[in-house]
Amino acid sequence: MSQKSVLFVCLGNICRSPMAEAALRAEAVAQGIAVSIDSAGTGAMHVGDAPDPRAQAETLRHGIDISSYRARQLTEADFRKFGHIYVMDQNNLRDLHAVAPWRPLAKIGLLMDVVPGRHGTAVLDPYYGGEDDFAEVWEDVTVAAKHIVARLAK
Ligand code: 4NP
Repeated sequence: MSQKSVLFVCLGNICRSPMAEAALRAEAVAQGIAVSIDSAGTGAMHVGDAPDPRAQAETLRHGIDISSYRARQLTEADFRKFGHIYVMDQNNLRDLHAVAPWRPLAKIGLLMDVVPGRHGTAVLDPYYGGEDDFAEVWEDVTVAAKHIVARLAK
């Protein structure tokens, strides 16, 4: 397990966590930081699916193509493989703890906890929302990605 490895977790792994994965991949490349990055869902309902078309459209607006991403479900092994696991909201945190081993190696936390002033807040679930919600998710995950890379670069 490398400390410089990050897993993003949401419910379906088709909206928020793939967008966070894309944002961190882009920021890591921009800052020249080597980091292993993935995303997963607590739920299994979208396993094997490409990201939601609205998530694809929003990331593509920022020049990033995530059409090849495929959803997968979080596994117990992820808690050994990744240095950090960031979840999007409190529901994800609760569901994750149902799968987590007794002593996970990964440091687990809410994604927005890495952003000063956003401690304890959620990345909103855009699934039943509109395009604006996907834009808001992108804003949140890109700000968070900058803070994660800054931390990893230390
Ligand atoms: P995500 O969004 O957790 O950000 O990928 C959702 C995806 C699917 C569902 C809910 C949220 N769903 O109910 O199927």
